[in-house]
Amino acid sequence: MKIKIDGKVVECDQNKTLLHILRDRGIEIPTLCYQENLKPEARCRLCLVEINGKLSTSCSKYPEKDMEIVTNSKKVKRARMINAELLISEHAKECFIENKEHDLCKIVQDVGLKDIRFDPTRKYKVELGTSVIRDNNLCVNCGRCVQVCADVQATWAIDFAGRGHNEHVTPYFEHGLHDVACIKCGQCIAACPVGAISEREHLQDVLKVLKDKKKHVVVQTAPSIRASLGEEFGMKPGTLVKGKMVSALRRCGFDKVFDTNLGADMTIMEEASEFIRRLSKGGPFPMITTCCPAWIKFMEHFYHDLLKNMSSCKSPHEMLGVLTKTYYAKKSNIAPKDIVVVSVMPCTAKKFESTRPELKSGVDYVLTTREFSKLIKHFNIDFKSLPNEKFDPALGISTGAGVMFGATGGVMEAALRTVYELATGKTLKKVEFNQLRGMCGIKEGVISLNGGKIKYAAANGLANARKLLERKNDYHFIEIMACPGGCIGGGGQPLPYSEEKIQKRMKAIYKEDRKLPFRKSHENPIVKDIYNEFLGAPLSRKSEKLLHTHYIKRSMF
Ligand code: SF4
Ligand code: SF4
Ligand code: FES
Repeated sequence: MKIKIDGKVVECDQNKTLLHILRDRGIEIPTLCYQENLKPEARCRLCLVEINGKLSTSCSKYPEKDMEIVTNSKKVKRARMINAELLISEHAKECFIENKEHDLCKIVQDVGLKDIRFDPTRKYKVELGTSVIRDNNLCVNCGRCVQVCADVQATWAIDFAGRGHNEHVTPYFEHGLHDVACIKCGQCIAACPVGAISEREHLQDVLKVLKDKKKHVVVQTAPSIRASLGEEFGMKPGTLVKGKMVSALRRCGFDKVFDTNLGADMTIMEEASEFIRRLSKGGPFPMITTCCPAWIKFMEHFYHDLLKNMSSCKSPHEMLGVLTKTYYAKKSNIAPKDIVVVSVMPCTAKKFESTRPELKSGVDYVLTTREFSKLIKHFNIDFKSLPNEKFDPALGISTGAGVMFGATGGVMEAALRTVYELATGKTLKKVEFNQLRGMCGIKEGVISLNGGKIKYAAANGLANARKLLERKNDYHFIEIMACPGGCIGGGGQPLPYSEEKIQKRMKAIYKEDRKLPFRKSHENPIVKDIYNEFLGAPLSRKSEKLLHTHYIKRSMF
């Protein structure tokens, strides 16, 4: 189709929005409420252009015959500036002047806004949750968090209430997030362009404990952090920074640096054994993975009938936390009460998870990737020039299977590598399950096992999980991760969010898997030591006591 853009006739794809067509041609259009891959809601009206003389949003319009578009007239610029001023007037003024990080603050500077004539009309109490903090005084009602919570996570924990000046974002019935079915995934944080939603930080607690000479402070890092942390220091998305990350943690003052990937290998040992036990007993199927605490909370609110299907395994950092305070404490002759475990996670839900009473958590504090980068900056560490160092060997050797926990489908792929070899006693010739890789919302496959067929599936994003669960009885084994792309797209990862970045992080995860000498969890020499010296065997009484847990039914509010 042919349309006119700024006086020139151009050929364009009629299935693309005007916003995409303009951006493809290198024309800069400001956007705030628009989110990649989601239906345009056209709330902010910053993407205005003139269409045949009338102002219209470009994010929600498609090309039509005889369209003439003007992108940079005085009328367009003035309208964008007024809309930006109205939006920012509800956002803290000092933030507008000083902050260069928030999307909206950058936009208002780009559209040339120098002053704000209006004052905020509302005053809200800041809500402090276990994982997430909401400050409605900063909120500009763009609706991104509401849309992500509904369309990506199918959770609907927050929505708009009130009209006109009173319109505001709130959990239903004006409850606190803690009192509704919020799953703590933090995707609203990643969506918010003005920092009105943020993680509950544990940074000050960690700084305090690092100064306490009586404490032995151990840190562990989740699989996905090595593929994303570099972005906080200007490195390209997908740069693997494992060695520098370990180096930085030592310079921050941690006594030992352990690898959550070993916890992932332990999870696979227990989960694969649990699956094989279910095969011998005839179910219950499907067995569903439990390393994502946001998914667990979602199930506890919305799917009580699935309680029997859930694996009883704790998540990898929780397994490593408890092993640090038992196995490692005993081996190193340190009293467990003197050990503090800090987890660096991609995730705000892990903050909530470590407070669950059912878990008897071994983890004391959880830092997100973003908080970790603040810690490094606090100590003025020049991250890029750090040498590469190795994890402490006591709990620091892991496999390619462990690192794959960082990407959607990775837990299932790691589990299948071990299930196959433990159940058949044969070597799995092709360890890569390509049908489980990539950003697709639901992936599935079949594997032959001792003459039978095992059907498996993986979903990422809880809206996709809901779709998969409609046909759950077709499968024996299901992996569910709440965040798009899995933990590499977690709510605690470096901002701003983009699918392109997540794909690059995913590539890095698979690259790391290929590089490692051991690619199956049951081949990990430390895993073997832990069972030989301490736990006995997977699913032994001691393993069940330390590495397994249970879940509860939760109401909606
Ligand atoms: S909290 Fe943030 S994402 Fe949600 S509506 Fe307000 S400004 Fe937008
Ligand atoms: S997918 Fe990963 S980052 Fe996201 S909530 Fe689950 S465990 Fe946390
Ligand atoms: S980006 Fe188009 S209306 Fe907000």
